[in-house]
Amino acid sequence: MIRWPARAFTVIALLLVGAFSACSSEDAAPPSLPITESTLARGKVIAEGFGSCGFCHAGQGAPGQSLAGGRVFVDFYGEVQPSNITRSSTGIGGWSEQDLRKIFRANTRPDGSLLYSPLHRGFEWMSESDVTAVAVYVRSLAGVDNTVERREPSFINRNVFGFFMTKSEVQGYVPQISPSFKTEYGQYVVDNIARCAVCHSKPGGLLDVGDYLGGGQEISINGVTKIAPNITSSKSSGIGSWSVEQLRHFLMTGSTADGKKIDSSFCPVEFYRNAPSDEIEVVVSYLRSVAAIE
Ligand code: HEC
Ligand code: HEC
Repeated sequence: MIRWPARAFTVIALLLVGAFSACSSEDAAPPSLPITESTLARGKVIAEGFGSCGFCHAGQGAPGQSLAGGRVFVDFYGEVQPSNITRSSTGIGGWSEQDLRKIFRANTRPDGSLLYSPLHRGFEWMSESDVTAVAVYVRSLAGVDNTVERREPSFINRNVFGFFMTKSEVQGYVPQISPSFKTEYGQYVVDNIARCAVCHSKPGGLLDVGDYLGGGQEISINGVTKIAPNITSSKSSGIGSWSVEQLRHFLMTGSTADGKKIDSSFCPVEFYRNAPSDEIEVVVSYLRSVAAIE
C-alpha cells in the first residue's frame, strides 16, 4: 500500500484552496457586457485597424494573417516573440474573456505570471467596452498550432524594472470617451489603442517618460533595426509641415509628404488603413496638436 506523507496532503489542501480562491476572484470580476454582433465588429475594427494585433502577433506582421506568432522583437528586456494568441493549446486555448481583460488591464496571465511587455504599454487604459470587444473578437478566431516560447526575464530585470511595470496596473471600470470629443478621442486612439509612442517616443528613464512622439528610438524586428522618426508638429524635425491631407494619405497608404514609401514591416500602416474614416480623422487632428519637439 502507498503511504501518503503528510506533505502531500498539505500540497493537495493548498491546491484546493488555490482552486477555490481562483474561482472566487473570477466571481468578483465585473460582469461582462452583453455580447452582440456589434461588439464582435468593434473588436475586429480594433484588432485589424489601429490596435494592429497582427503587426506583432502574426507571422509576417500583415493584416488577415492568423495571430499565431512568429516575429521577433527586441524591447527593454531583450528579445521577445509576440505570443500565439489563437485558441490552440499552444496559444491561449482555454482563456476566458476575463483572462484577456487582465492581460490588458494588469499585464497578468491566468496562471498569475506577469507579462513583461513594454510593447503592450498604453493598453491598460483601453475602455471597458473596447477591451471586451477585443477579447470577444480574439476568442472568435480559429486555433492555429504554433509553439512560441513565453519569455522569462532575468531575476534582476523582473525585480527592478518589473516592479515599476506592475505599478501600471489599472483596476476598475474605464469608461468610453465619446468620439464627439474629437481631440480627446483622437488622443485615446493614439495612446491607448494604436500606442504610437511605444515606438515613436524614446523609452525614457525610470522616472521620466521620454520625449512624447519625438522619435529616436531604435526598433528591431527579425534582426533588422530602424529608427522611428519624430512625428510631433515640429516643422523642421517632425511632421509639422505636412497638410491634413498628407497625414491622412500617410495613414491610408504609408507614403510620406515627400512621396517616400515607408517600410510597413516597421510601422503598422497596413493596419491603419482598415480603421473607420472618422477614426482616421480624429487621429490626424490630434497628431497635428501634439507639441513640437525639435
Ligand atoms: C507592438 C507589438 C504588440 C502588439 C501591437 C500587440 N501585442 Fe500582444 N504581445 C506582444 C508581446 C511582445 C507579448 C509577450 C510575449 C512574451 O512575453 O512572451 C504579447 C503578449 C500578448 C498576450 C499574452 C499571451 C500569452 O500567451 O502569454 C495576449 C493575450 C496578447 N498579447 C494579445 C494582444 C492583442 C489582442 C493585441 C491587439 C489588440 C495585441 N496583443 C497587440 C506584442 C504585441
Ligand atoms: C512598431 C513600431 C511603430 C509603431 C507602433 C508606429 N510606428 Fe510609425 N514608424 C515606425 C518606424 C520604424 C518608422 C520608419 C520606417 C522607415 O524608415 O521606413 C515609422 C515611420 C512613421 C512616419 C513617417 C515619418 C517621416 O518623417 O518619414 C509617420 C508619419 C509615422 N510613422 C506615424 C505613426 C503613427 C501616427 C503611429 C500610431 C498611429 C505609428 N507611426 C506607430 C515605427 C512605428
